[in-house]
Amino acid sequence: MTMQVRKAVFPAAGLGTRFLPATKAQPKEMLPLVDKPIIQYGVEEAMASGCDNIVIVTGRGKQSIEDHFDVSYELEKMLEERKKTDLLNIVRSISDMIHVAYVRQKEALGLGHAVLMARELVGNEPFAVLLADDVVDAKVPCLKQMVEVFNEMQCSVIATQVVEGKAISSYGVLDVKPVSSRFGERLFEIKNMVEKPPFEEAPSNLAIVGRYILTPAIFDCLSNTQTGAGGELQLTDGMRLLLQQEKMYAYVYEGKRHDAGDKLGFLKATVEFALKREDLGEPFREYLKGLKL
Ligand code: UTP
Repeated sequence: MTMQVRKAVFPAAGLGTRFLPATKAQPKEMLPLVDKPIIQYGVEEAMASGCDNIVIVTGRGKQSIEDHFDVSYELEKMLEERKKTDLLNIVRSISDMIHVAYVRQKEALGLGHAVLMARELVGNEPFAVLLADDVVDAKVPCLKQMVEVFNEMQCSVIATQVVEGKAISSYGVLDVKPVSSRFGERLFEIKNMVEKPPFEEAPSNLAIVGRYILTPAIFDCLSNTQTGAGGELQLTDGMRLLLQQEKMYAYVYEGKRHDAGDKLGFLKATVEFALKREDLGEPFREYLKGLKL
């Protein structure tokens, strides 16, 4: 029987230190790109890719994520009374959108640990992991492209992108070999991976970005992984164990990724998303042209 990806896990229990002070009392995942929290972009991508079962891993101070995907009776009643139908539809579509389950990560012990917290809810089936602060703007949703690869290969698939120069040291980096498939030069078989290597030791310029499809064997691998610096359990270390048991593939997705968890990346994403908006694009473009840069 072929396996299908129906569940998507959003680790959202990190501390968001790169975005302080904004993230002192509100989750980074709720920062809005134009007018939509970044986690909603990810949830919409997961749904468009066939995952109607969403698991969000939350922690302290993340209540607003749950509220966002919940029904807001007072707001809906007020919008209804004031006949603000368009806004009412927007608000309702969010809570109607999905079935969300939440699980707590009590301490921010790393991305691998956050994924492990979803074990009970995921069960024994392949699942997607999306990092909300990697917002991917693509014609075909990034995860959907990866699901197509998964459906054919029936193995874990990690999204990757080429990162030139020293910046590669900020990522997990892949050592790969070519593979012949209908996905051409976008698909590689993974030989090894290493988290944040020094530039000189990076095995390639292929960086791991925040989209993964993993088989459930990852959970045992994570349970058997030693914690690293600061007591954090790294997802990359767990995936390296998985690699000893199963084939894994890396897919160079088509699309543009924004690192919205970083201040500069967030600003760039805001400008690009605003320029693409039908209602805001034109006046915003005129405004930008008028700036004496
Ligand atoms: P990041 O390292 O980008 O997030 O983790 P962070 O720790 O929140 O942010 P900075 O680096 O301090 O600014 C990637 C993803 O993994 C989640 C984060 O919420 C983010 O979506 N994460 C990270 C957890 O859920 N738990 C953790 O213990 C660590």
